[in-house]
Amino acid sequence: MDKERKLIIAGNWKMNKTVAEALDLVNGLKLELGKVKDVDIVVCPPFTALGEVSKAILSARNLALGAQNMSEHKPGAYTGEIAAQMLKEFSVRYVILGHSERRIYQLESDELISKKAQAAHAAALKPIVCVGETLTEREAGQMEKVLETQVRGSLAALTKDQMVETVVAYEPVWAIGTGKTATAQQAQDAHAFIRAQLAKIFDEAVARKVRIQYGGSVKPANARELMSLPDVDGALVGGAALEVRSFADIVKNSI
Ligand code: PGA
Repeated sequence: MDKERKLIIAGNWKMNKTVAEALDLVNGLKLELGKVKDVDIVVCPPFTALGEVSKAILSARNLALGAQNMSEHKPGAYTGEIAAQMLKEFSVRYVILGHSERRIYQLESDELISKKAQAAHAAALKPIVCVGETLTEREAGQMEKVLETQVRGSLAALTKDQMVETVVAYEPVWAIGTGKTATAQQAQDAHAFIRAQLAKIFDEAVARKVRIQYGGSVKPANARELMSLPDVDGALVGGAALEVRSFADIVKNSI
């Protein structure tokens, strides 16, 4: 597939996998995906498995490591938190920020996500910043307003250079873990809208470079169509990233 931007496909393992299970999964992915080129493949295990998965992918050139969250603070007295510097120790390169589950269960605000994104860049980590509307918001005709608020609120404080190194994940909340995927038209419309917001906040050149992933019930069967859309530059995969076969097939079907 000839895309303007390099595809980035990330597996968000969420609160799943013991260290042993994480190693099984990543070793399987190494075998399946070892020869795949021209796509950035990222695995995001839970914090407890980062160390071992990091060692396991040392020999895999095309697999990068991501975390699922981090603190906005530098190391210090923040019980239970993990700082960017600690992720760097395990060669983490990406960090998912503002996932809808964190926005909902931990009440993360755009303001907090913005601070985390800035802290990630300060440590040379690439944030994957998630945005997306709920079903109620979509049905009330508020999708664009919600996306505009989230994009501006969580990204506008970045510099242009930082924005280019940031990945945005459009994840309609109603499509996450529900088996419902946005239609090709819904995904393309939302992605184009997000890119237009980035052009307004930064400029056209920045907006053209930013990779926007789609997330929400991505599967081997729908990956190709979604990845072929002009403004879709990758996927953030939850459930289907927990097994070698389905995640490997998503990657292979996308290229
Ligand atoms: P899903 O999750 O693929 O299970 O819908 C996507 C996500 O939450 O990133």
